[in-house]
Amino acid sequence: MAPKSKKKRPPVIAVDGPAASGKGTIARALAKHFALPFMDTGLLYRAVALNLWRWGGDPGDEFEALRACGELGFDLADPELRSEPVSVIASRISAYPSVRAALLDRQQEFARQPGGAVLDGRDIGTVIAPEAEVKLFVTASPEVRAVRRLKELEQRGMHAHYDDVLADIHARDDRDSTREAAPLRPAADAIVLDTSDLDVDAAIAEAVRLTEERLAKSWRTNRTNLG
Ligand code: C5P
Repeated sequence: MAPKSKKKRPPVIAVDGPAASGKGTIARALAKHFALPFMDTGLLYRAVALNLWRWGGDPGDEFEALRACGELGFDLADPELRSEPVSVIASRISAYPSVRAALLDRQQEFARQPGGAVLDGRDIGTVIAPEAEVKLFVTASPEVRAVRRLKELEQRGMHAHYDDVLADIHARDDRDSTREAAPLRPAADAIVLDTSDLDVDAAIAEAVRLTEERLAKSWRTNRTNLG
């Protein structure tokens, strides 16, 4: 019988959570720390939204949103991807099952590459990579997230009011978590990381610690199962 391999496989790390929770920064830092390829899946939904916006398509029409998934070329450096109108359209069109289905393969192929991966989004631990060794659900209070979003907008030279940003965060949370297709929620085996009282460095350090702990556990379990 062939010897059972005890080699550690590069892991898949799923990072989910609401807007402005710090999940993007954390996911990027984890990818760097563990030397894994990284995918920001929100950019796929943003690219569809940007296509639709440029065509003048109707975000309220699922068929038009699906058409915007075809030929999904996008430039990661395009500042429009991060603009407010595109954020709002992305949140709306991501509720359509057909749009989610059209973007599924691309994300699952990325998650299944042999070298492991870190993906950040809303449904990575629940739909895209339920087999991920580590699932983090990064969250923070809506008020803290509104302050972060406001600072981010100011850094980009855009001005907004706290109350409007907070209202937008509540609306987006509501849309993301009440939609029928892949709603935003932690997977049953996700570790919830609340970053409300943590600065960026502390949040990253905690995410690395939790990930290392979970990986050690997963490798111990694998070894036991392999005998
Ligand atoms: O993460 P980001 O804010 O860039 O995502 C843009 C929008 O795409 C979100 O509002 C969310 O509704 C949607 N999204 C999603 N599933 C993902 C990633 C993003 O529904 N995996």
